[in-house]
Amino acid sequence: IAIQYIFILLAYLLGAIPFGYILTRYYTGKNIMEMGSCNVGSTNVGRVAGKRIAIITQLLDMLKGLIPVAVYLYFIDGEKMGAEFSVCSVGLATIIGHDFSIFLKFKGGKGVNTTLGASLLIAPFSVFISVAVYFVVKWRLKYVSLGSIILGITLPLTELFIHGLSSIFYYLLVCMILIILRHRTNINRLLHSEELSS
Ligand code: G3P
Repeated sequence: IAIQYIFILLAYLLGAIPFGYILTRYYTGKNIMEMGSCNVGSTNVGRVAGKRIAIITQLLDMLKGLIPVAVYLYFIDGEKMGAEFSVCSVGLATIIGHDFSIFLKFKGGKGVNTTLGASLLIAPFSVFISVAVYFVVKWRLKYVSLGSIILGITLPLTELFIHGLSSIFYYLLVCMILIILRHRTNINRLLHSEELSS
């Protein structure tokens, strides 16, 4: 049991590493939290530091979700009872680390990339469908944020549709709530037709 708590803490700390902030600062000297949408995620990194740094940020933000879940699943608790619940806690810890980073005074990103990384092994089909839905929304309506919000909603809905109520569904429901809450300012801007383009 103790190892689970230590692991959750480590997952939080890994999630809390603000790659978008660090890389933008390193390559451009700019403070991403004061520019564009002020978000540390890859979309805003793209606006402030360019596409190349945005792609690196996106990969790292996904990996920091994926790695703790993969390590936990394959090396620590893969076979035991309650593993599903535990692995969901690890996934959530890394997302919460990203959204409320101890290194940014508990500010942080909106959690989309980290949620995708963390959920890839937990709910691969839901991730796949949600990403597909994201691309359609982004392509038709042009707003990354709207695509992200709909991606967040699609995650638990797909899971519910395919597997019914389960720990994984509730985990994805929490992911959805976090994504929506973290997009509050985007929702406001969308409603007032003031949303930034990607
Ligand atoms: O994942 C974040 C994205 O949905 C919106 O980013 O910078 O436009 O607020 P941003």
